[in-house]
Amino acid sequence: MELPVEQAEENRQAHWADTARIIISVFGLQPLLVGISILIMAARKAAIFDLWGCVQSPRPLHVFRKYEEFLGLSRDFLHNTIVDKGPDSALHRAELGRITQTQMLSELQEECQKEASSQGHLLPPQFSVQKLFQDVREALRFNIPILQASATLRHHGVATCVLANSWVDDSEQRAGTARILSVLHTHFDLVLQSCHMGTRLPDSTFFDHALQKLGVSPNQVIFVSAVEGNLATGRDMGMDVVLMDDTNEVMKQLQTLSGVELLSSEETFPVCCNPEDVPHCYVTIKPGVQTHYVDMGEGPAVLLCHGFPESWFSWRYQIPALAEAGFRALVPDMKGYGNSSAPPDIQDYSQEQICQDLVTFLDKLGVAQVTLVGHDWGGTLVWNMAQHHPERVRAVASLNTPLFPVDPKTNPMERIKAIPVFDYQIYFQDPGVAEAEMEKDLERTFKIMFTGSADSDKGLVINTENVCERGGLFVGLPDDVPRSSMLSESALQYYVQQYSKSGFRGPLNWYRNIERNWRWACARPRKKILMPALMVTAGKDPVLQPALTKGMENMVPNLTRGHIEQCGHWTQMERPAELNKILLSWLNEVHQKASIPVSPRL
Ligand SMILES: *[C@@H]1O[C@H](CO)[C@@H](O)[C@H](O)[C@H]1NC(C)=O
Ligand SMILES: *[C@@H]1O[C@H](CO)[C@@H](O)[C@H](O)[C@H]1NC(C)=O
Repeated sequence: MELPVEQAEENRQAHWADTARIIISVFGLQPLLVGISILIMAARKAAIFDLWGCVQSPRPLHVFRKYEEFLGLSRDFLHNTIVDKGPDSALHRAELGRITQTQMLSELQEECQKEASSQGHLLPPQFSVQKLFQDVREALRFNIPILQASATLRHHGVATCVLANSWVDDSEQRAGTARILSVLHTHFDLVLQSCHMGTRLPDSTFFDHALQKLGVSPNQVIFVSAVEGNLATGRDMGMDVVLMDDTNEVMKQLQTLSGVELLSSEETFPVCCNPEDVPHCYVTIKPGVQTHYVDMGEGPAVLLCHGFPESWFSWRYQIPALAEAGFRALVPDMKGYGNSSAPPDIQDYSQEQICQDLVTFLDKLGVAQVTLVGHDWGGTLVWNMAQHHPERVRAVASLNTPLFPVDPKTNPMERIKAIPVFDYQIYFQDPGVAEAEMEKDLERTFKIMFTGSADSDKGLVINTENVCERGGLFVGLPDDVPRSSMLSESALQYYVQQYSKSGFRGPLNWYRNIERNWRWACARPRKKILMPALMVTAGKDPVLQPALTKGMENMVPNLTRGHIEQCGHWTQMERPAELNKILLSWLNEVHQKASIPVSPRL
């Protein structure tokens, strides 16, 4: 028998009170406090959101009203005709998966016309339900603090789920829907769409599916929604419900109910991609040479080029952020790395050849122009692309790596020899030597390499000076080095696994073309880089120091600058939140995506 709502709530509270009384009488007060917090933590095992609980306003109602005003329709005409028509309406049937979006839109268009004429109006000729739905979708913005909260909850063992009333999008523009779903899948453990489940909110059967899949009971669930009817079902089932209105208020309630700290002022870490969950692709550059890359998101193409000794995975915190912001992130394993081919010859890794490979890569993907972002050697590469293949580059950004001037009179090896922190590059020249040292114990190698600015205070950072004299990059360091807190154990293991296939020969070969690259650059006219450009410097990079970027504006007139003071060499993993902020604000400006209009555009 179902209890009335209030009574069920009373019973629930009584149950808690009983539990507390037992603990108090048996163990006294102190264990009670501990006990309560454990019970609360154990009690809330999942947080469920509906779609309107994880996006920002405007909700469809607002978009509908703007459209009504624009067309001179009576207030709530659209809402009443489209949303509030009961179980036989086209919207409901589409949400139950019985008809597709195309069928739904054409039925709704007809229904609106019928309804208008029954009220004695004629709809304006430009009236289009399709346009209306497109505007609703385009106005949709994810509530970033909520996505972040989901990541934090998951991190603390609270499963997160989205229940979405949605239909099968069979339109030409379905990339937009796909993008929304891809963001949801990245941030939540479980995403259920009504059209696949055959049940829709506010029906409790939709919740039942989620509870079953999450393996939780209703009283272990927090439900967040902006829709009163959906909240009512959750409440009736015995969930703690939270009305999505003011985000800050919601975060406070989520924190109290889950027992997970969500409001700390500490830097929050952006969502990290799981290698298993992102799309992996291959393209053949020429017979026997393949590029492996990750391809995620929809929108203007942004190609991310990693450095030495890294992996596509070094962009793990940037990829979801770019996809979420409406960009297509193309993230290769650079030549010689990971699952891309690693030909043995040194000249295969000249900048001329690698640029040429990248052009072929873009040709094969059918991408005419791309925005490039590079770090370390990837930074050198993107500056070279901007200088030598400007027609393929929409905009260019580099992290840590400056655009070094080319001096035709001085052999670059002489210049490198003159700068003590560049001594490791001399050590890297002799084929086989550095390979042997770095491949000997991959785990130790990456623990030594990937340290942050906080680690250097503890003296745990390799010295890139006097490497030849010492007889090796790692000479003098203990066998057992600690892992930096910025590198998780699973990330470390991923790097190790990525190098077990081709080792360090290909990656080191990038350093063995310095004279060849210089002759190539000298043989071509040096033009200014006129496209929008971004230079992000890191205050504590011991090698690529911010001072090296001085005067770059002479060669790169349209240069935006970003700087992260408390950051070492591995910018993408040490300060991902700051970096993403800098990158996205620049990318939005370059691609003019900052403000997508919320009002209907006809
Ligand atoms: C990378 O290559 C290995 C074999 O060398 C293969 O097992 C693995 O599935 C590949 N990974 C991807 C993402 O393609
Ligand atoms: C410089 O780049 C910005 C984007 O960062 C762009 O909006 C602007 O139009 C560019 N200016 C010129 C003169 O090219």
